[in-house]
This record gives sequence, structure tokens and C-alpha cells, in this order.
Amino acid sequence: MEIRIVNGKTIKAAPKESLYKTLKDNGIYLVASCGGKGLCGKCRVRRLEGDARVESSGKLKKEEIDSNILLACMTFPESDMVIEIPEESKLVIGDKIAISKSKDIRNFLHSVEAGLEPAVRRVYLEITPPTIDDHASDLERLKLALSEKGLAGMRFPHGFLLGLASSLRTLNWKINLDYTEDLSAVAIVPADKIDRYGLAIDIGTTTVVVYLVNYSDGRLVDVGMTYNSQMRFGDDVITRIVHATEGGGLDELRTTVVNDINVILSPMMERHDINSNEIDSVVISGNTTMSQLFWGFDPSSIREEPYVPTLNSYPVWSAGNAGIKIHPQAPVYTVPCVGSYVGGDIVAGVLASRLHLNPEISLFMDIGTNGEIAVGNNEWLMTAACSAGPCFEGSGIRHGMRATEGAVESVKIDPVTFEPALGVIGDSVPTGICGSGMIDAISELFFSGVIDQRGKFMKDLKTDRIISGDEGPEYILYRGEIKDIVLTEVDIENVMRAKAAIYAGVSVLLKEVGLSLDIVDRIYIAGGFGNYLNVDKAIMIGMLPDLPKEKFSFIGNTSIAGAYLCLMSAKMRKEAEEIAGRMTYVELSVSRGFMDEYMSALFLPHTDMNLFPTVRDLYKKN
Ligand code: FES
Repeated sequence: MEIRIVNGKTIKAAPKESLYKTLKDNGIYLVASCGGKGLCGKCRVRRLEGDARVESSGKLKKEEIDSNILLACMTFPESDMVIEIPEESKLVIGDKIAISKSKDIRNFLHSVEAGLEPAVRRVYLEITPPTIDDHASDLERLKLALSEKGLAGMRFPHGFLLGLASSLRTLNWKINLDYTEDLSAVAIVPADKIDRYGLAIDIGTTTVVVYLVNYSDGRLVDVGMTYNSQMRFGDDVITRIVHATEGGGLDELRTTVVNDINVILSPMMERHDINSNEIDSVVISGNTTMSQLFWGFDPSSIREEPYVPTLNSYPVWSAGNAGIKIHPQAPVYTVPCVGSYVGGDIVAGVLASRLHLNPEISLFMDIGTNGEIAVGNNEWLMTAACSAGPCFEGSGIRHGMRATEGAVESVKIDPVTFEPALGVIGDSVPTGICGSGMIDAISELFFSGVIDQRGKFMKDLKTDRIISGDEGPEYILYRGEIKDIVLTEVDIENVMRAKAAIYAGVSVLLKEVGLSLDIVDRIYIAGGFGNYLNVDKAIMIGMLPDLPKEKFSFIGNTSIAGAYLCLMSAKMRKEAEEIAGRMTYVELSVSRGFMDEYMSALFLPHTDMNLFPTVRDLYKKN
């Protein structure tokens, strides 16, 4: 059987495999938020010809089914087929994403007084060459030269020794030796080579970011970023964990993300004329699941009670073990994790924010694919994961999408006519709505009286923007020639659940230490989503606490910033270990107060309007 894709290739259909799997196996990836379980409705394709067994139509609407739309993951071809893949179903993960290098990270390094102490050190050695009367081996000569420099006791891995004889002779016995802080030989480099390169890597559930750093001076040589290709197997950590338990899934997830790193790295090395062997140090920062998957550990126990990861503190392994195509002996340091749902990315974030050193109480929030929070000061630190889910990245939302071209990112609704004015990324035709657009839209719908405090549409409003859909009422944000972009009551419910989980998480953490929100001096918002977030609107819907705007700081991708600090400085690596050790992890799913706080926060902005005085006053005025 063959599947012909309109404007694409023709592929062989594997018997008894779903269309989704067949396409995936042939390098054609669809948006698959639920990981191919028929739940998210994102893997839509249109059948033009051919027969297939359709196991479920999931969330598809009747008109869609009538116009031959299928869920690829629930469709099993039974003859040759011709299909069309709509643009919004295509998962674009290979594209590199340009990110700004404008921030001088070296200033940041100096400002935290980290000092320059990379994990790999360098010593210059002049080794006495052998003669006919001096038969000491190459290794003995190297050891002697090292002990003269006070470096006795060095370990020499097999991979290092393989190149020893030729390196010594090629370099005429005058060498630089790179070695790890715990005295393991890494590489021999020419004596006149000054530049030394390392990698800081942030493995996010959605994106992978690589900093190529010249660690002789801390300069950022290049930055590369791509979507995490593990998204082929699902949007969130839970669907990835489920996939890891399916035959060969763990290996597939591991090699997928290692491949992403190598694919980012290769053109960077080419651009800067850097040989792969010149890169000899790596720091990895990721959430607990991403860290485990990167190292090939079965993550199943992370999602099973009592939610325990295989390890939080990782030994230093090598790039050769990991599969990163740089110097195979390069040490790979993993930022330590705290628990199943608070990982190295949050430890790196706290490290970069410096909140662990300040006497004032600060709140750190990373609102990305999940939603992790930390609160504390120089004396104590508490942390929790809020199970907010990836809805702010478009998952579980009818027309949700990531913040890329075509995404509605801002919404204004006329309170008299209820007509919307949209801001769209790239000023193009809207194809969906991203997280900041949803927060805007819900805030505007609420303040213009289209929805009530429970997020339910008001009845009998004079507008044709509200229509009745399969899942209840929906608001038409954009009337398209091919399809409308709507926000359904179920979408609003999903966003409200996520925002309630975040707010409840913050409340519970503070209550655990007997404090209230007004004691918080600073709120750090980390993560890519934070860059687009409108604080006022996020307060309006009750996602962020109603505190003066000047208390909020957007600090971007702190996972990569923390990884960079650890790459450059032993002091920072030590601080990261201390932060992970000091953090008290609160498991919200078993916290007695969480459910009460969560239920109270499932309103716009909250059942207790006195917690949101700014919103209360504005609401009264309207
Ligand atoms: S419905 Fe097919 S991947 Fe989710």
C-alpha cells in the first residue's frame, strides 16, 4: 500500500500501522500533543482517496468528518491513499530559531563574581623526549612532567591514551594538557592554542538551546536553538514518559534529543572554524524528565506514586557516553535536580536569579510547558511544580499554537460591539492563538462582559461572535476563508485550570512558611513565555499575584544562563549543588491545602476579589 501526500512524497504504508506512525517513520511529523492517543485532535489530515479503518474521530466536528478530515493517529490505511496535510498539522521542529545574542553574558558572569574556573583546566608541559639511553614510556614522561607541576595522581582514560604517542611527537613534546577538576586527562592541545571551547545546553520540553562558549574568557561565540524533536512523541513530559515505556521508546527519545544538539552544533563549528575536538566541556540543564531521558534512564517512576526519579545528582560523565559529537573525553556536568517535577532548569534558574543570596523574599516562576515555582531568600528555599500543563504553548486548546508566525498574540475586545482587534505574530493571517493571546483574550472577554467569573459565556448578548459549537459556546476571534479561529468554553476552562494551578501553587508554598503574598519583594518570571506575557492581563485573570508592577522582573531563559555560569565557574557549580540541597520540595498533589486553593482560584480572577484589589476596583468601575 502507498500513501501519496499532496505536494509531497509518496510513501509505503506499513501494514497495521496508523497513518501517524507511517508518516513519522518516513520523516513526516505531525503536531501530536497527546503523543498519538486520539485525544488532542491536532494530527488532522484530509483524505482525498482511499480506504482506511478509522478507530476514532476524537474531537473532530461533524463538518470536519463530512469533509474527510481524519485523525492520523486513529486511522489505519486499508488501501492506497491520497492525503493532504493542512499547514497547522505540520510539526516544524527542524527549523533553527534565531535568538538574540545582544545580552552580554560576560558582564553577567562578572556581576555575580563567579570567577573563571571551568570544569576543564589547562597546564603547559615541556616533556623530555626519549633517547636511545632513556627508555621510559610516553606515559611515564607525561606523569613526570605533571608531578613537577604539582599534578601527580592524574587519571588517563583509554580514549586519551589512544592518541598520546602521536600527539606528543607531532607537537614536539611541548604541549598543553587539558584535564578535569578531579584530575582526569581530557586532551592534548598545541602549546600555542589559547582558545578553549565549551557548551552550555538547555534541554527544554519544547526547545533545545546551545551556547558555544569560549571559556578562556567567557565569550559567547554562538547560540543555536531548535524545537525539541521529542515533540514528535507528545508535547508534555507525561506523554514522553509514556512513550519511553513503549518498546524502544526510551532509546528513541534519547537519540532524538542528542541528535538535536549535534544538528545545532555542526553549523556553529563550521561557521567559527572550530574542530569538534577543541570543544571539551559541557553543562546540561533540563527538567528532571529531560535530564533522565538525555542520559537514558527509564523515567517511569517519575509519574508513579510516590514520584521518585532515578537520581537527582548526576556524576560527571563524558561526551562520548552521551553521544555529543565533540571531544569524546569532554566532561558533561548535569545541573542537579530537586525532585520529579523540579529539575536542574529550576536550580539553574534560581542560581541565575541570585535569589538564594538575598535577604529579601523573592518568588521565581517558570511558566513554560509545566509551571514550576520557587520562593525563598538566603536562609530558606521552597519549590513546587504546579501541573499547569502545556496549554500556554497551545496544547489542549482548539486553535492553540506556539508563539510563532500566524499566532494571535494580543486581543482587544470592544465592550459595546464585542468585536475583537487582534495582534498577530508576523502580521500575517491568523492560524491559531498562543499563550499570551489566550491570556489577553480571556481578560478582555471578562472585562467586556462576554464571560462571567467562572469563564462561562453570558447568555443573550447581541453579537454574532458567539456561536454554539460541538463543545458548547465559542467566541469567533477571527473569521477565516477556510477556517475560523475560535476560543471555546472548554479552552477557557483549560486556561483557567492552568492559571489556578500556578496561583494555588504560589499560595501553598507561602502558606507552608506562614507568609502572605505582600511580603514578597520581587517576582522573577523566567522562561520563553515570560517574554511575551502582559503582566497586567495575567493579573486580571488571576494567574499572577496582584502586586505592584515594579516588583516583576522578566529574566528570560534562566536555565541556559545558569548552565553557562556552571560551565564557567567551579563556584557556580558548587552553588548549584547547594541550591538543590537546600530546596524543600513540596509535592502539591498530596498537599492538603492545594485543592482548596486551586478551587478558590478557578474564578476570574479569584473567588476572593480582595486578593486582587486592582482587578476588583477596575471591575467595579466597569
Ligand atoms: S489526536 Fe492524534 S496525536 Fe493527538
